Amino acid sequence: MHARIAGTGSYLPEKILTNADLEKFVDTTDEWIRTRTGIESRHIAGEDETTTDLAEKAARIAMLDAGVGPEDIDLIVVGTATPDLVFPNVGTLLQARLDIHGCPAFSVEAACAGFLYALSIAEKFVATGSARCAMVIGADTLSKMVDWKDRSTCVLFADGAGAVILKATEEPGIISTHLHADGRYKDLLLYPDGVSKGFKKVRAGNVGVIMKGNEVYKVAVNTLGALVLETLKANHIGKEKIDWLIPHQANIRIIEAIAKRLDLPMERVIVTIQHHGNTSAASVPLALDAGIRDGRIKRGQLLLLEAFGGGFTWGSALVRY
Ligand code: UT7
Repeated sequence: MHARIAGTGSYLPEKILTNADLEKFVDTTDEWIRTRTGIESRHIAGEDETTTDLAEKAARIAMLDAGVGPEDIDLIVVGTATPDLVFPNVGTLLQARLDIHGCPAFSVEAACAGFLYALSIAEKFVATGSARCAMVIGADTLSKMVDWKDRSTCVLFADGAGAVILKATEEPGIISTHLHADGRYKDLLLYPDGVSKGFKKVRAGNVGVIMKGNEVYKVAVNTLGALVLETLKANHIGKEKIDWLIPHQANIRIIEAIAKRLDLPMERVIVTIQHHGNTSAASVPLALDAGIRDGRIKRGQLLLLEAFGGGFTWGSALVRY
């Protein structure tokens, strides 16, 4: 059995924050943000809008697109680093909202690579016959975790959700997935507080995402460069076979470097960073859905998905859409 993408959906919060808006409360410029990252604007969740709220909207669109109902879904896997609650997990909260009952529902925590981790797990359930119709989500609200006074991070991160419905088929859809992690890099990109740390920094009102941006940048370019080549090699295919690169949207310069590694012109890369910013686990499924909905990505084409995030964690998928 193979897992094929039967439908996609995505959702972005209504509120848009432009670079000009940021200039008003943090020491930055539109010029710096655009030239260093490619970001022009991003969507920010409302105060009471949670990761599950965004995921639910994306999931409903994906279910419609795939022509499936609550009774069809037999697995829910959510990649997120920003759960509404510690538990129940976002998968379970989403399950209740969608009136789905009884199937396994859980979240995986792999920062910006969360969707690739979730996709890889769900693909294995489908390929082994443990699930026939899986919902895979990447959803994050990192705006709730950044320090809005820290210009080195607050201009980058944003909110959103993307969803994919996988169905069991005889023809390959998800051809292969490749996951990696290396915890030695844990200090380069982190949120330094949490449950068993006692939320001490949160209580002191003194916490946000910490990133040594230029060090992350170097590792990301080298690691993703090696990852895309690993993905091709594992499948014995040449670079020219890839129709679309669907990369994690962290920095336009990283995206361009990986496209170059694949000898792909930027016209074959789905770029959403200018209006989405870095939506963490949501970025790849948001870009995938954007490319499908505007008609660029067509059935039968070969897609290469990749992402890189805190941990570090990284992953790719080769997909026949
Ligand atoms: O999604 C998870 C993985 N994350 C990534 O892959 C992100 C990887 N890193 C990056 O994308 C880039 O490193 C950044 C966009 C985060 C930063 O770009 P950079 O070209 O590496 O800049 P930098 O950190 O080396 O900083 C250059 C200068 C510094 O000033 P000095 O020391 O040269 O005077 C910063 O203080 O830019 C300054 N700077 C800013 N200036 C205006 C940093 N942030 C800002 C800002 N506005 N928002």
